[in-house]
This record gives sequence, C-alpha cells and structure tokens, in this order.
Amino acid sequence: MNTAQKHTRIAGLIFMVLMVVILIDGCRTSRPHDCQHHAIEEQKPAGMEKKLSATENNKALALLQSNCFSCHNPDMQSEVRVAPPMFKIRQHYYTDDVKREDFIGRIVAYVNNPSEELSIMPGAVRNFGVMPKLSFKQEDLALMAEYIYENDLASDAWYDTWDAYKNLPQTEEGEINYEDIGRNIANGTKSELGKNLLAAIQERGAPGAVEFCNTRALHLTDSMANRFNATVKRVSDNPRNQQNQANEEELAYIRTLKEAYAKGEKPAPLITDKGNKVLAYYGIETNKMCLQCHGQPDKDILPATWTNLKRLYPHDKAYGYGENQIRGIFVVEMKK
Ligand code: HEC
Ligand code: HEC
Repeated sequence: MNTAQKHTRIAGLIFMVLMVVILIDGCRTSRPHDCQHHAIEEQKPAGMEKKLSATENNKALALLQSNCFSCHNPDMQSEVRVAPPMFKIRQHYYTDDVKREDFIGRIVAYVNNPSEELSIMPGAVRNFGVMPKLSFKQEDLALMAEYIYENDLASDAWYDTWDAYKNLPQTEEGEINYEDIGRNIANGTKSELGKNLLAAIQERGAPGAVEFCNTRALHLTDSMANRFNATVKRVSDNPRNQQNQANEEELAYIRTLKEAYAKGEKPAPLITDKGNKVLAYYGIETNKMCLQCHGQPDKDILPATWTNLKRLYPHDKAYGYGENQIRGIFVVEMKK
C-alpha cells in the first residue's frame, strides 16, 4: 500500500467514525422523538408572537427547573416517571385555536387548583394521581405558563436551549429578596418531596410509602440553597413525628394562618431578620392526595396504612385533616 492509498484509507476510516458519532449523537434518547429527525413545524395559531425578553426567559426556565421539572422532567430517560413531561401537557393545552391568554389562564388555574374537574388529561390522572398542590407567587406562575406557551418544549431547538441551560453556572442578579429565595427553596423541597412520595406510592402503594413524607432524607442540591447555606424543615402544631413539633414562634404563625384561612384569606409568608440569618415561614396546605395518610382514619386512610403509621409513630397527631387545611409550615433558614 502506498502513502496515497494509506491516506485514503485513514480518511475513509475517520469518515466512518464521524458518521457513527453523528448517528449516535442524533439518537439522544433523553429527547422525546429520539432517533427520528422529523422537524414537524408546529402549527402556530395566528397572532402567536414571542413576548418574553431574554431575561424573562431565563427567569422562567429557572422557575420551571426548581418548581416543575422535578416531576415534569424533560429528560425522557429519567429514573422514575411520576408525572407527564411538560411538553405532553403543552400538547394537550396548546390546541389549534387556543389564545395566548386562555392557554396561560388554564395552566395557572390548574396549578392553583389541581383537580379532576379541571383536568383535561384523564389518562395522566389515572396513571399518576392528581397533581399535588403547590403554592406560587401568581406572577411567577404566569411567567412559567407564558414560557410554556411560547416555546415548543418537544422541539430539538428547545432541548438545545435546555442542555445549554443545565450546564450553565447559575448567576443571580439584583438585590437579595429573602422571601423569594426562601419560597424557591421551600418549593424546590416540596416538589422533590412530592416526587418521592408519588414514586413511592406508585411502587408500594400508600401503606408502603409512609416513610417517604420526610424532608430529612432530602439532600438540597439547589444552587440557591447552597449559596445561602440554607436549611429547610417542616414543623406542625399536630406533628406525626415529634421531631417536627413547632416551637412558640412557629406556633404563633401557624395560628395566624389558621385564623386567616377560616376567613378565606391567605396571609403572606413571614420573614424574620435574626441578624446573621433570615428565617422564612411558608404555610403547607393539604390536598386530596395527602389525605391517604393525614385524613380520617376510617374514611381516607387504608387500614394497612393506619397500621404502619401506628407502628412507626405511636404519638401521631397528624390525622383527621380535610382538604385545603394548614398542615404545618416550611421553615427556611438562610445565612446572610
Ligand atoms: C410533585 C410533582 C409535581 C410538580 C412539582 C408539578 N406537577 Fe404538574 N402534575 C403532576 C402530576 C402527577 C400530574 C398528572 C396528574 C394531573 O393531571 O393532575 C400533573 C399534571 C399537570 C398539568 C396537567 C393537568 C391536566 O390534567 O389537565 C399541568 C398543567 C401541570 N401539571 C402544570 C404544572 C406546573 C406548571 C408545575 C410547576 C409550576 C407543576 N405542574 C409541578 C405532578 C407535579
Ligand atoms: C404515604 C403517606 C403520606 C402521604 C401521602 C403524605 N404524608 Fe405527610 N407525613 C407522612 C409521614 C409518615 C410523616 C412523618 C415523617 C417524619 O418522620 O418526619 C409525615 C409528615 C408530614 C409533615 C411534617 C410534620 C409532621 O406531621 O411530622 C408535614 C408538614 C406533612 N407530612 C405534610 C403532608 C402534605 C401536605 C401531604 C400532601 C401533599 C402529605 N404530607 C402526604 C406520611 C404521608
């Protein structure tokens, strides 16, 4: 073989390797339409224009990541699936003739009040159970919904943005707003906890899942939590685990919440400056899903669940609740 032939061979080999790499790379199973490179241009209803600025887009993505994606994970090969990926939800809500405001309004309404009545995805409710209720600042929620409206979350273009975003070191801008940071950390914890609970119930049923409603097992990986050296705990006036008994200060806020709820009001979180640290309290509400372990023993809680609860928590006070009641509070401690 002369040198020229050798070179042609090597070039051929390199070409083949490249092709294989390209093909493998093109088959990213973490994306919805893996392997098939069909770029279906989505049918956009007339009048759909992008309105969010680059900064708003980034903020929305950060909010979605910490509040929604732990359950509505965009990465298809994620361990356990506890909810449909967000692009599936978008596909159901993004009908041909939907108007921007209606789309946003419906997503916001559902998150504010997840229920079978409002659901347009009966299959998802059947497979995963009704989404747990989380509380959000309404403007943040609207921003997330706008983002979902504006971006085709199933497209390769969006996955490129998402991959780039995930690998970006997170930066913060502007002045420190402890209420927002604390809420973000509390919601991140709640959504991680909710995910674990749903997965455990799916795998073992409620009786076997009783050990999974526990924040102590959670590891805070959130960049905000790291930055503020934050800790999160949940406390209650009627704890299941005595370690979660609220102290005087916490009890006072729980009383305030309960009184306000009785009048149909929702008070703001309580933020207290303690000199070297800030404490933030956020109410924790029950919804239907919680009642299988925190509801009425003879009505909502299965006998097998009840037996396990009694065995693990002989001093349990955390039952007898109904929907939309104050179950306790999140206490987020942030170092200054
Ligand atoms: C703890 C897990 C969890 C988190 C966190 C979560 N969801 Fe869900 N969500 C679910 C589950 C489970 C379903 C499927 C059952 C259902 O439809 O209620 C769902 C369904 C939905 C639906 C479809 C409703 C329908 O049935 O028509 C919307 C819309 C939705 N979620 C929006 C959001 C948004 C927006 C966020 C973040 C702000 C979010 N979710 C965070 C678990 C979660
Ligand atoms: C599968 C059973 C189960 C479900 C469902 C469940 N919990 Fe729990 N919950 C428990 C157990 C067990 C504990 C005690 C955990 C511990 O040892 O810290 C607990 C503890 C808590 C605490 C801490 C205070 C305390 O009582 O010790 C709060 C707050 C709480 N749950 C809220 C909720 C809310 C809100 C929901 C619904 C979104 C929910 N739980 C759903 C079983 C459950």
